Amino acid sequence: MPHATASDIIVRPLPSRPGSKYTIGAELLNANLESLTPHDEATIKHALYTHQVILFKNQSALTPSAQYAVTRLFDPAATSYGHGKTLDAKRSVLHPDLKTIPHQPQVQVIGNGFVEEFEGLKDINLKHPHHRTFHRDVLSDELDRDNTRFYRWHIDAALYDLEPPMATSLLAVEVPKTECQTLRYDDGTGDEMRVPRGSTVFVSGETMYDVLSEEDKKFARETKVQYAPHPYIWMSGARSRSTGLGMVCEGLELDAAQLPPVEEDKIKILPMCWKNPVTGKLALQIHPSAVQKLVLKDGTVVDDLEEVRKIVYRLQRPGIAPELVFPIDWDEGDFAIFNNRGVLHSVTGSFLPEEVRIFRQCNMAASQPVEGPEECA
Ligand SMILES: [Fe+2]
Repeated sequence: MPHATASDIIVRPLPSRPGSKYTIGAELLNANLESLTPHDEATIKHALYTHQVILFKNQSALTPSAQYAVTRLFDPAATSYGHGKTLDAKRSVLHPDLKTIPHQPQVQVIGNGFVEEFEGLKDINLKHPHHRTFHRDVLSDELDRDNTRFYRWHIDAALYDLEPPMATSLLAVEVPKTECQTLRYDDGTGDEMRVPRGSTVFVSGETMYDVLSEEDKKFARETKVQYAPHPYIWMSGARSRSTGLGMVCEGLELDAAQLPPVEEDKIKILPMCWKNPVTGKLALQIHPSAVQKLVLKDGTVVDDLEEVRKIVYRLQRPGIAPELVFPIDWDEGDFAIFNNRGVLHSVTGSFLPEEVRIFRQCNMAASQPVEGPEECA
């Protein structure tokens, strides 16, 4: 008889970078993701909500359907992709970044370069998102190879009609390994950090909340965020701050007449703080570029976009300090799952057209709304 615990999953917190203060990230060893026991599933769920980002090595053989099944562990009632069909909208800022796998539509292909055939997709041109297409002020061509930015800090969520996914998974299928880059904030602080080229970076929303003053914590617990309808089309003419943490105010957002029809009951008004379903801890979870209005405790609506963005930026910026950022140094076969309701994440880096990179991403619009603090009920 094999020992009952012989295949138990081991949870090992990832070592942090020198000088860093983040407490996210764990590697899970001994997992057979194609055949999980109920005990394994419980271990994985607990690890995700404790460590926010969990990593399984050597998962190149994981099929798209198995990826879908594992990602659904966190929300078994969820079935459709997190952005629904909104990616089809050509004007959406997400449109160029994601290609849907025909036989598993909850799984998208992202990456860089020309790929002849992958999972039923033929002759696809993948483009790694480059800050040049989204930031207002960009790095010069001569700085571009050795330096990078946070492309766009975000939560994976449609933020209109659909509920934010519980978790997102990423499988690194093909990874060109090159030198590290210097990630520059370029916001006058002098902040910068070294990141592996193409690293996905994460910050904990719980830490982002914890580092606030008591007064700001109270404000965050009591305030709701109203997101723009069709946010990724709405923001398509606007440009981001150099930190990737929200937009610059230049009046370039599309107005209602330029958007698809808006159904008022599909507009999302979400708590500013989201509750961890396992630990009960609060995370400051705001999608900074999609924010349109704030609803205060007394019902007052702050609808001056410049003021709204100023408030949100002041609350979020401390939480993306270099020592709080966790960059994944991707290896081929790495399979990561992150708590989409407890972290913000961003793409970084830039690749040459011949540097082919392939990832599979999966998430589902959640079956349940976000849970906020009692003050925000
Ligand atoms: Fe994302």
